[in-house]
Amino acid sequence: MTGLRGALRRGFDRIERMLDHVFGSDWNPLAQLGPLGWFFFWIVAVTGIYLFIFFDTGVTDAYASVAWYSKDHWWHAGLARSLHRYASDLMVLVMFTHLIREWVMDRYRGRRWFSWVTGVLVIWFVYLSGITGYWLVWDDLAQYIAVTTTELLDTLGIFAEPIARNFLSPLKLSSRFFTLMVFLHIAIPLLLLLMMWIHIQRITEARTHPPRGLAAITLGALVVASLIMPAPLGEAADLSKVPVRVDMDWFLLSLYPVIESVPAGVIWAGVLCFNVLMVGLPWLPPRREGSAATVFLDHCNGCARCVEDCPYAAIKLVPRTDGLPFALQVEVNPDRCVACGICMGACPSSTPFRRSGELITGIDLPDRPLAALRSEVIAAAGSLQGSGRVLTIACAHGAAANAQPGRIVLPCVAMAPPSLVDFIISRGLAEGVAVAGCAERDCFNRLGGTWTRARFAGERDPYLRARVPRERVLTLWPGPSETISLDDALAEFASKLAAMPPYEKLRPLEDDEAADVKPTALQGGAQ
Ligand code: HEM
Ligand code: SF4
Ligand code: SF4
Repeated sequence: MTGLRGALRRGFDRIERMLDHVFGSDWNPLAQLGPLGWFFFWIVAVTGIYLFIFFDTGVTDAYASVAWYSKDHWWHAGLARSLHRYASDLMVLVMFTHLIREWVMDRYRGRRWFSWVTGVLVIWFVYLSGITGYWLVWDDLAQYIAVTTTELLDTLGIFAEPIARNFLSPLKLSSRFFTLMVFLHIAIPLLLLLMMWIHIQRITEARTHPPRGLAAITLGALVVASLIMPAPLGEAADLSKVPVRVDMDWFLLSLYPVIESVPAGVIWAGVLCFNVLMVGLPWLPPRREGSAATVFLDHCNGCARCVEDCPYAAIKLVPRTDGLPFALQVEVNPDRCVACGICMGACPSSTPFRRSGELITGIDLPDRPLAALRSEVIAAAGSLQGSGRVLTIACAHGAAANAQPGRIVLPCVAMAPPSLVDFIISRGLAEGVAVAGCAERDCFNRLGGTWTRARFAGERDPYLRARVPRERVLTLWPGPSETISLDDALAEFASKLAAMPPYEKLRPLEDDEAADVKPTALQGGAQ
């Protein structure tokens, strides 16, 4: 499974790189699937509300009203109908691509289970919203769905009377049943919205809007497609006949031909297995999770930088408990912490220059504490030779994930406090530092790349100090398939550094800093 995932990961990365060239990394649609899902939801919601102005909810009037506005008012209500349908289809497409991508990127496991499991519920609500919508049109496709769905539901034996009977003849179909469908087609999308909101509750600064440009292109393409190819409308439903040929929607209704041809027991068993497997997936082995971050109150002033930088809403501010003269302190929720280390990189106490006593910071990773990281950096620097020495701080999810001499691999590059870069250069541990994160379009830890760029640009605390010579710092964002360009960029950086005069503000490593170095094996930083 890990091999399959790795191959798919590189495959996705290659396609995304091509899309980066077309759209730029900020607008890359494959990195915006969640936000696009939200965007399509809002298009469906707005066009749906508009359509209700013209839609008649009676059994006999429904089809007539849809036919009327599709033909006579094609330029507004008809257009809204096509947008409503195509945006629903795209929501399904985006949802499954997003699901596969999150699985491929391994962002659903262990303590990240919440978004995955709520995502499974989102699938149900998307399908139920779509199916009840098709039902309302009351054309031959609606008739086909109504009969097939009710026959399947009747096999459960939970209704006092078989509901498929409602569709035996035109006389049997009651307006009450139809009103129930209208109610469901409003209530279920509202529940879907609630579920989508819950889906993003355990992540900070969730992206629910695609960039404006991408949204405009997408909407424009949808309007053009709707005008060129308006949503089809079948013949009016006729319960005295069995529909022979219907215009299928392969996004929302692709399971219907299967339901028709496979015994109901097999269908229900399949549905059960799919859901149990999907919900259980985050807990299946192999589980690789580090211990949750730990707070050291003696080194915490309650500044809240870690709270703001944690991508998983795992840290909160609480009243101070230790009598120190600060109002607040922080508390980590170990059930939410994925051990990305971003909080450690954010804490003002995380400075490798501090030499009095043991090197402890306000918030640390028990499996990879700051003191050990400083030791690793000094030891890694010892393995570098030549005149253009580059020490690489790498992300475990990008192209530089493999441990090598002179490379420190971290769960996220934002785990390294900017002062570590200052430390490496000013202490002459290397001529330059390369920070190689994962793909810029979509950081494995959601916000790690964004925070690192902002810290280095001096736009977010803790920033990289002005005294650090920028020509000696290289930031790179190579996705997992970009090893060749990464190696080329590192080699070019090394020769540039070799040609530079020695760094004049060098302050060699003090004895007590060097004494801190414990022999460490090259560590991978996988979470
Ligand atoms: C149309 C339906 C869906 C919408 C609109 C949606 C939306 C989103 C959004 C906005 C994010 C946050 C992206 C970010 O800011 O990093 C997200 C993350 C995620 N979604 Fe969905 N989602 C949908 C369906 C699903 C489904 C069906 C699954 C899987 C069963 C799923 C699994 C996930 C996972 C695992 C994450 C990542 C959480 C993390 O980074 O830890 N989503 N989704
Ligand atoms: S390690 Fe990552 S997930 Fe855990 S508290 Fe720190 S920033 Fe949040
Ligand atoms: S960043 Fe450090 S000092 Fe600030 S609240 Fe978090 S642990 Fe405390």
